[in-house]
Amino acid sequence: MKSLLILTGHTKGLGKAILERFLALDNIRIVAVSRSILNLQNPKLTEVQLDLSDLDALESILPALFPRGEFDKVILINNAGRIGEVKSIGKLQLKVIQGVMNLNLLAPMILTNAFVAAYSGTKSEKLICTISSGAAHKPLAGWSEYCAGKAGLAMFSKVAAEDLKEKGFRVFSLVPGIIDTEMQADIRKADPSDFPALERFAQYKSEGHLSSASEVAEKVYYLLDNPILFQEVVQDVRNFDLP
Ligand SMILES: NC(=O)c1ccc[n+]([C@@H]2O[C@H](COP(=O)([O-])OP(=O)(O)OC[C@H]3O[C@@H](n4cnc5c(N)ncnc54)[C@H](OP(=O)(O)O)[C@@H]3O)[C@@H](O)[C@H]2O)c1
Repeated sequence: MKSLLILTGHTKGLGKAILERFLALDNIRIVAVSRSILNLQNPKLTEVQLDLSDLDALESILPALFPRGEFDKVILINNAGRIGEVKSIGKLQLKVIQGVMNLNLLAPMILTNAFVAAYSGTKSEKLICTISSGAAHKPLAGWSEYCAGKAGLAMFSKVAAEDLKEKGFRVFSLVPGIIDTEMQADIRKADPSDFPALERFAQYKSEGHLSSASEVAEKVYYLLDNPILFQEVVQDVRNFDLP
């Protein structure tokens, strides 16, 4: 069975672990997008160097991200994201608000739209998985940009699932838990006066509560390999175990 994966944010953290998990498959083609590249020289992988917060650049490169061909299964994983400014409202900067919303909300919407346009006429199994966050569903002081973007994206995913169910697409908004990545390190650099939960997040790390990117990637893979077992759009990796 030949599969195609389009993955954003593949160079670090969860995205890199997802890339490694899918590269282990035999019959896979992967198009991966980040600002930097890994230069893996793997024939299964095409790396595209792009700042996804630059929406004009994204628009101009869109056709190259969705190869044509005979695929039994096509998957889009919207993973790239960043925490943005961890600051109280009143101290946010317009350009940063814009950049974070472009990356965390608008780019995944644009990519999903283009993915659907590219593959809706095909017989392939079609899956869209957007990496969400607990912050989509729970407000945290200091995280207004991040929470707003992820909440918008979770709602977009729910609408997409309704909109696309007759067209054969399954859509998931997947909460990955708390993972030991650079994003968590960025969160721990916040000023406690802007981020009251800082100590709790520092403890997650010091007390060993963070998941590894590879264990979460294994769950992302399991969900996408067994979508029939997962009926709801919103899923949380902490709510299911691997067999
Ligand atoms: N870590 C957690 O605890 C946690 C919890 C909940 C949700 N999440 C979500 O999980 C996803 C992955 O997070 P992570 O922790 O793995 O983050 P990470 O380690 O910081 O990795 C982020 C990835 O996104 C890429 N990226 C960042 N900005 C980009 C841009 N402007 N354009 C293109 N690519 C960009 C980065 O590559 P380049 O630097 O090469 O561009 C990198 O590959 C995110 O959506 C995040 O919100 C993470």
